[in-house]
Amino acid sequence: MEHQQTQGSAPIIRPITIFDTTLRDGEQAPGATLTPAQKIVIARQLAKLGVDVIEPGFPISSPGDFAAVQQISRELQTVEICGFARAVKADIDAAVKATQDAGRRRLHMFLSSSSIHLDFQLKKSREQVVALAREMVAYGRQFVDEFEFSPMDATRTGDEFLFEVIEAVIEEGATMINIPDTVGYALPEEYGAMFTRVMKNVRGSDRVRFSAHCHNDLGLAVANSLAAIKAGVSQVEVTINGVGERAGNCSLEELVMALETRKSAMGAETGVKPEHIFATSQMVSRAMSFPIAFNKPIVGRNAFQHEAGIHQDGLLKNRNTYEIMDPEALGIPRSMIILGKHSGRHAIKHRVSELGVELEGEQMESFYAAFKKMADRQKVVHDHQLLELVGAAVNQVLEPFALKSVQVVTGDAGHRVASCTVRDEAAGQEQVFIGTGEGPVEAVVAGIKQALPFEAEFSDLELYSLSSGEEASGEAIVTVLAHGQSYRGVSAQRDIIMAAAHAFMAACNQAARDWKQQENVQATGTADGTPHVEITIP
Ligand code: KIV
Ligand code: ZN
Repeated sequence: MEHQQTQGSAPIIRPITIFDTTLRDGEQAPGATLTPAQKIVIARQLAKLGVDVIEPGFPISSPGDFAAVQQISRELQTVEICGFARAVKADIDAAVKATQDAGRRRLHMFLSSSSIHLDFQLKKSREQVVALAREMVAYGRQFVDEFEFSPMDATRTGDEFLFEVIEAVIEEGATMINIPDTVGYALPEEYGAMFTRVMKNVRGSDRVRFSAHCHNDLGLAVANSLAAIKAGVSQVEVTINGVGERAGNCSLEELVMALETRKSAMGAETGVKPEHIFATSQMVSRAMSFPIAFNKPIVGRNAFQHEAGIHQDGLLKNRNTYEIMDPEALGIPRSMIILGKHSGRHAIKHRVSELGVELEGEQMESFYAAFKKMADRQKVVHDHQLLELVGAAVNQVLEPFALKSVQVVTGDAGHRVASCTVRDEAAGQEQVFIGTGEGPVEAVVAGIKQALPFEAEFSDLELYSLSSGEEASGEAIVTVLAHGQSYRGVSAQRDIIMAAAHAFMAACNQAARDWKQQENVQATGTADGTPHVEITIP
């Protein structure tokens, strides 16, 4: 079946339903458990992201899951909510009850179909499985109009029995047939061809819709889902960040952006709003305490970062030279050129000028030599280090504040206390500030904040281990909100508290520089404080 039909020369683009199972299958990832309150917050974000269906949990599995599904059903009236159930009456009853108040709802029931599952897990014959599937679909169908059936481990089932089960549940009134690659075993062409055969051979297949559900054990979940779309499915089941059992599920952001970026080749599109992808990914990662791999497509920290000199050079001339998507359209902060030993002169000069300094001649040469030395010693040269090097080259201090020293008293009881010496470079004054907090980072932040002439909210801390063994050095990335903007500072140190302190200071310095520039623009019309001169051309 060819699905990329054309009308004149424009390809026909089919809508694909995005069924998000982050809160059910995704939550089955080891260690990723969510509280009901977290589920509700994430479900709101999924609705904002524009998914079509949310599967918020497994109502029979716990009172908490039941309550979360119930509240999400009550609150998110514009999204279809799906209750999940085994082929067991009590499961169906719980799923039906939990989704009772949804604006639109669906029941999703699964039952294994492969011989290995039947023989070792269900201990049922094929006849018994077909009979049970029929009975439970008929039972559930009394309560809901939309009934999704999943033959679990379908890709290891074999056509004959798979067709038989699907035909039986369609006869009993199933409206959506989801064919899962439960163990991530299928190859893309096999998975696509399986749908084609089912659609062609199963009686009643023209009365139902088909859905793909892929696991990522061989890293093929997205490729398999795309193959299923090519074969004609109208729904794909996905999770944010690809979280899920073992190697996870098909990643929402990867699938959606593949369709978005290659829309005419795929002849399909989704209603997901890309601008909310990054925030959703961050929220899920934090709530599940599930870090995102640096090189994860779309949402990984390196996904839009470029280090090679030749790439940076191309990018500065035209972003399309090395980028196929616009990170800002995904809600990802820009400025992703990473300065290190592979960076070329052009990119370094460009970043320095973005920081407000133009270097030429002698100054550029001495700065460049110092940069190369530093880049040889460490992986990445961060902005605050760049400003130190530039400052040395032009004989000026460019950072508004310098964190001169930090002492923290920490332990396992009572408040932590930090004493922070901060130098205000413009005023030429150094002062000691004392901060307290429940933890050492909180205490340091409370101390540094007192040095700032503006409100700075410490909104996020990412910590990465950079070493093995006792050295225990770490990198801290701190996000600060100030003047309605967000700023990120980075620092790597042997002591992770110091890394967090310096990263916080670096982010606050960016905010202070921005603030100063805005003040200058208001006062003089120019960013550096020199009076603005109107030039009139006669
Ligand atoms: O992977 C799977 O088979 C599932 C089904 C129960 C849909 O998650
Ligand atoms: Zn699954």
